[in-house]
Amino acid sequence: MNLVLMGLPGAGKGTQAQKIVEDFDIPHISTGDIFRAAIKNKTPMGVEAKKYIDKGELVPDEVTNGIVKERLAQDDTKKGFMLDGFPRNLNQADALDKMLAESNRQLDAVINIHVEPDVLVERLSGRFICRNCGATYHKIYNAPKVEGTCDVCGGHDFYQRDDDKPETVKNRLDVNIKLNTPLVDYYQKKGVLHTIDGQQDIDKVYEDVKKVLNNL
Ligand code: AP5
Ligand code: ZN
Repeated sequence: MNLVLMGLPGAGKGTQAQKIVEDFDIPHISTGDIFRAAIKNKTPMGVEAKKYIDKGELVPDEVTNGIVKERLAQDDTKKGFMLDGFPRNLNQADALDKMLAESNRQLDAVINIHVEPDVLVERLSGRFICRNCGATYHKIYNAPKVEGTCDVCGGHDFYQRDDDKPETVKNRLDVNIKLNTPLVDYYQKKGVLHTIDGQQDIDKVYEDVKKVLNNL
């Protein structure tokens, strides 16, 4: 199963990806996670990417496309993959088509998690993440079952992402809103787009995602 998960910042891509990997045995490839790991390790790519991410801008396509190309060349993606947050513009979508065509693969589905922009600011400002395992929570909508303890790994150390600060969130949303509609149209025309209502409970959103995946 070759999948793309798309949606505006805060739409719930990472939250749904966590659930998909529990049920479907495919690697989760999040360009945002790859950049954050590179920033943490202070690699040259991470230092470069941080300049853009801190402003809420996209990392240049040459860098991002190169990372995805390298990742999709790894053997574990032969059984399928789930791209999360890539592609984000038509140039990246075109690059992805070429990468897949070169290895005789194609996309089975693009899951578009739709949430109205005005809801997203609240989602991003209330988000916190487990430092140990990366599980994502929300102080109101998705709090850990036991306060201060990660449901997944039992860890107690949480952090807020730097780019969830209010000044960065606004630009992230503006940048991505502009790019989102052409991308939705592109995949709609290809006949692989499945739009899911992302403004339901997390478990209900996942039920809808699962219906699509079980019918592929
Ligand atoms: P990335 O990490 O991909 O960030 P993003 O796209 O901004 O998306 P988020 O991770 O913020 O949100 P999400 O949709 O995963 O939501 P989540 O599940 O956490 O990218 C970061 C940066 O890297 C980009 O800004 C860019 O600079 C760069 N980058 C990445 N990919 C790139 C690319 N392809 N090209 C160029 N640059 C790139 O949920 C959010 C919150 O809401 C959580 O607190 C969660 O608990 C809660 N929540 C989730 N679902 C629900 C629900 N149904 N109801 C209520 N609350 C919910
Ligand atoms: Zn954890």
